[in-house]
Amino acid sequence: MSDGGAVRRMLLTNVGELVTNDPAPDRDGGPLGIVRDAAVLIEDGRIAWVGPSAHVPSHADELRHEREERRDGEEHRTLWDADVEVIDAGGRALIPGFVDSHTHLVFGGDRADEFAARMAGRRYEAGGIRSTVAATRAATDDELRARLAHFVAELHAQGTTTFEVKSGYGLSVADEERLVRLAREVTDEVTFLGAHVVPAEYAEDPDAYVDLVVGEMLGVCAPHAKWVDAFCERGAFTPEQSRRVLQAGAATGLGVRVHGNQLGEGDGVRLAVELGAASVDHCTYLSEADVAALAASDTVATLLPGVEFSTRQPYPDARRLIDAGVTVALASDCNPGSSFTSSMPFCIAVAVRDMGMTPAEAVWASTAGGAAALRRTDVGAIRPGVRADLVLLDAPSHVHLAYRPGVPLVARVWVGGESPDRFSR
Ligand code: NIG
Ligand code: FE
Repeated sequence: MSDGGAVRRMLLTNVGELVTNDPAPDRDGGPLGIVRDAAVLIEDGRIAWVGPSAHVPSHADELRHEREERRDGEEHRTLWDADVEVIDAGGRALIPGFVDSHTHLVFGGDRADEFAARMAGRRYEAGGIRSTVAATRAATDDELRARLAHFVAELHAQGTTTFEVKSGYGLSVADEERLVRLAREVTDEVTFLGAHVVPAEYAEDPDAYVDLVVGEMLGVCAPHAKWVDAFCERGAFTPEQSRRVLQAGAATGLGVRVHGNQLGEGDGVRLAVELGAASVDHCTYLSEADVAALAASDTVATLLPGVEFSTRQPYPDARRLIDAGVTVALASDCNPGSSFTSSMPFCIAVAVRDMGMTPAEAVWASTAGGAAALRRTDVGAIRPGVRADLVLLDAPSHVHLAYRPGVPLVARVWVGGESPDRFSR
């Protein structure tokens, strides 16, 4: 409820194609729950009603009636009061805001030279993370904060309305603490990734570093975080070390997510499923047993097309996972090393072109899939009760996100029914 008790209302009309991600029986029957010639009513930042434009007037009467009953004796406002903001979508498509469930946005410096060297033939290695650790440790809180604000504006401008941010470029108690603390200033979805890579000062004794992560570091970081993550990969942490970190995080009440199977087959997926992780991310190299284990679990497979694009590795096989019944999410993995894109439309285009996804599957995976990977039910869809996180496309259909790669199709964005300050960069 806004100031003075008045309900803030916004009615979006003339939506040519509405992607609800709500496969209700009266919708088109597909996973996107498409409604054509639709309208959406927003009340106090939440979706109040969704349906065909032609049904708005009669439904408004029902809303008015409900409101009179609920607020008997009070002065009240109805849908048709003058303060309802009515927005004509001009026949364009409206989709849920993107849910980017995997980013590493708190860091110093960049690694453009490493990228250029890779494009000239050098291989991607997990060890590159250490150069960002040095630049991050050298940055002040305010420098990191300013960078983060810039990235948040960049995300909003591209239609991302919910995003996760990981630590992992501090790798000391004090630096990891400040990274999760700064991340928490911009999102609720903060992940403690002290187990990103073993820092240079512990190169000779990685288990001593794991002791630090599960002890003092976790103790100061957990209060700012919702999730714990570990990079279970050759060159990073062994399955045993990863399990220690993830179990210690879970014991403090953090949800589990895992980086795994990025650079080769390994134990990341198995570990994630064993620990009931919300998501295992990368999933580029999977055995049949990995796919079967994911299909039988509640763990989402989060695919990160920007990584394979920027490292020239083979793309993960989304088709194989979807056909096996695995829930797939797409995320940017925005970070200075392996994937310096914050664009979900770019990820959608690549996933459709090179990972065997249909445009509908890719849009679902970047919205509802991301929400599933974060175990959120209040975002990632346009149905009554959820947060009004919306993206109006400068296009008649969601298909254009893949069909017109690289074209800025995001016309307007709302987060909780409000326009974010997207031009503040
Ligand atoms: O998700 N895989 C581990 N972490 C990042 C890479 C970070 C980096 O190279 O700086 C990733 O790809
Ligand atoms: Fe990552």
